[in-house]
Amino acid sequence: MKRVAIIGAGPCGLSQLCAFAAAAEAGGKEADLPEVVCYEKQSDLGGLWNYTWRTGLDEYGEPVHCSMYRYLWSNGPKECLEFADYTFEEHFGRPIASYPPRAVLADYIRGRADKAGVRQHIRFNTAVRRVVYFDKEQQFSVIAHDLTTDTASIEKYDYVVVANGHFSTPNVPHFDGFDTFNGRVLHAHDFRDALEFKGKTVLVIGTSYSAEDIASQCHKYGAKRIICSYRTAPMGFHWPDNWRTVPLLTKVEGNTATFKDGATEEVDAIILCTGYLHHFPFLPNELRLQTANRLWPLNLYQGIFWEDNPRLMYLGMQDQFYTFNMFDAQAWLARDVMLGRIQLPALDAMRKHSQAWRAREEKLETDEDMIVFQGDYVKELLAQSDYPRFDVDGVNKTFMEWEHHKHDDIMGFRNNAYRSLMTGNMQPVHHTPWLQAMDDSMESYLGG
Ligand SMILES: Cc1cc2nc3c(=O)[nH]c(=O)nc-3n(C[C@H](O)[C@H](O)[C@H](O)COP(=O)(O)OP(=O)(O)OC[C@H]3O[C@@H](n4cnc5c(N)ncnc54)[C@H](O)[C@@H]3O)c2cc1C
Ligand SMILES: NC(=O)c1ccc[n+]([C@@H]2O[C@H](COP(=O)([O-])OP(=O)(O)OC[C@H]3O[C@@H](n4cnc5c(N)ncnc54)[C@H](OP(=O)(O)O)[C@@H]3O)[C@@H](O)[C@H]2O)c1
Repeated sequence: MKRVAIIGAGPCGLSQLCAFAAAAEAGGKEADLPEVVCYEKQSDLGGLWNYTWRTGLDEYGEPVHCSMYRYLWSNGPKECLEFADYTFEEHFGRPIASYPPRAVLADYIRGRADKAGVRQHIRFNTAVRRVVYFDKEQQFSVIAHDLTTDTASIEKYDYVVVANGHFSTPNVPHFDGFDTFNGRVLHAHDFRDALEFKGKTVLVIGTSYSAEDIASQCHKYGAKRIICSYRTAPMGFHWPDNWRTVPLLTKVEGNTATFKDGATEEVDAIILCTGYLHHFPFLPNELRLQTANRLWPLNLYQGIFWEDNPRLMYLGMQDQFYTFNMFDAQAWLARDVMLGRIQLPALDAMRKHSQAWRAREEKLETDEDMIVFQGDYVKELLAQSDYPRFDVDGVNKTFMEWEHHKHDDIMGFRNNAYRSLMTGNMQPVHHTPWLQAMDDSMESYLGG
C-alpha cells in the first residue's frame, strides 16, 4: 500500500484529507487508496482559524502558528470560499449572513472535516522536523516530533503534501529608533485584542489586508487616532476623520515617528502589517519552495507539483483571493495524480506551462485582473477532477461586488449580503452593522 504524508491540518491539509475521503466513499471499501497520515503541530485542526491567546512560543516551545485575533471577521464574502461539497446551509441549517467572524468559519471548517470523518488520520501535537527524499527507493523519510511525549519518529512515504500555510512566520523589517521607542512595537502575527489600543494613537505600517483590517479593528474598539504608513502606494479607501495616511516611516525618536515626506506624528504603538514569509524549515534546499507572496509562484506545476520531484506537492502557496474551494480543487487534482488516475507531463512541458501562467501573472494590474486570473486557475483545476463543479464566474462577480462595496464604504462593506453560488439562495443581511457589532462569538452572530 502506498503512503501519503500531509504536513498541516489547516484548510489545505483538510482539503487533501477530504479528497481521499471522497474517493473512499465513491469507491466503497474496494478503492485502492493509500494510507494517509496528517501531521499537525497544534492540538486541533483548522490551521490559522484555530485561535489562541498565545503569542511567541507555545507550551512546548514551538512557534505559535496562529496569526488571527479576537474580533476577526471574514474579510471577503463567505459565498466566495464556500465548499462545493458542503454548503454553509448544510452546516448551519439555514442561510446565514455573508461575513462571519472567525469562530463561525472555524466551526464550518470543523463540520466538513467531521462529516468526512478525517480526524482519525491526524496526528495532533506532532511537528514535522525534516523531510528527506531517497532517489533509489523513490520514497521520503518524514521525521516528526510528538510534542506531548517528547519523542521523535521516522516513517517512509511515497508522497508528501506540504500544507503548512504561509501566513504564520512574520516578515519583520527594522526601522531606525525601534530599539528606544517608548511604546509597543509588534507584528500583525502577534496582534490579538484591539482593546489594548483603546484611546491610543496607533501607527500601522503596510497597505494590504492585515493593515486594513487591524487598523479598522483598532478604530472600531476605540483607538484615538490611526496613522497608516505606506511603502509603495496608499490603500485608497475613504477612512474616518481621525485617520491620516503618510508615506513610509523613516525613524522613531522617543514617541515621535518621522515619515519620508518629513511629516511627524506622536504615536503610542506601532503595528507592522508587513506580511509573512514562506517558511519550510523542515525541507532541504532541493525541495524547498522559495517565493514571495504572489499569485503564481514558480517551480510548481499547476500551482501544486514540485516540478523537480512531483511526488512532493504544495497546497495553497499562492496569494489568495480564492481560498477554501481553490484548496479543494488543488487537493482533488493532487489526489488523482497520487492515485495514478492522471499522469503528469515531462519536466519541460511542466516548466513551459508554469512560465506561461507566470507571464500572464506579471501583466496583471488591477484587483479585478487578479480575481479573473485566479478564477481561471480554479477553472483549470476543476476541469481535471470530479470535485463538484461550481460557478467560478459567479464567484468572480461576487468578488468584484465586494471590491466595490469596500471602496464605497470601508467601515460598512460587511453589512452587505450575497447569493450563494452553491445553493442559489440569497443570504440574509446581518442583524447588526459591523461597526456596532462588538461581540464576535458564534452565538451572537447566529442569534437574532
Ligand atoms: C489574519 C488572517 C486572516 C485571514 N482571513 C481570511 C478570511 O477571512 N478568509 C479567507 O478565506 N482566508 C483568510 N485568511 C487566509 C488563510 O491563509 C486561509 O484561510 C487558510 O487558513 C490557509 O490554509 P492553510 O491550510 O494553507 O494554512 P494554515 O491555516 O496556516 O494551516 C497550516 C497548518 O499547518 C500546521 N503546521 C505548520 N507547520 C507544521 C509542522 N512543521 N508540522 C506539523 N504541522 C505544521 C499549522 O499548525 C496549521 O494548523 C487569513 C489569513 C490570515 C493570516
Ligand atoms: N479579516 C481578515 O479576514 C484578514 C485580516 C488580515 C489578514 N488577512 C489575510 O492575511 C493574508 C496576509 O495579508 P497581509 O496583509 O498580512 O500580507 P500581504 O498581503 O502579503 O501584504 C504585505 C504588506 O506589507 C508591506 N510590506 C512588506 N515589507 C515592507 C517593508 N519593509 N516596509 C513597509 N511595508 C512593507 C507590503 O507593502 P508593498 O505593497 O509596498 O509591498 C504589503 O502592503 C491575506 O491572505 C489576507 O487576506 C485576512
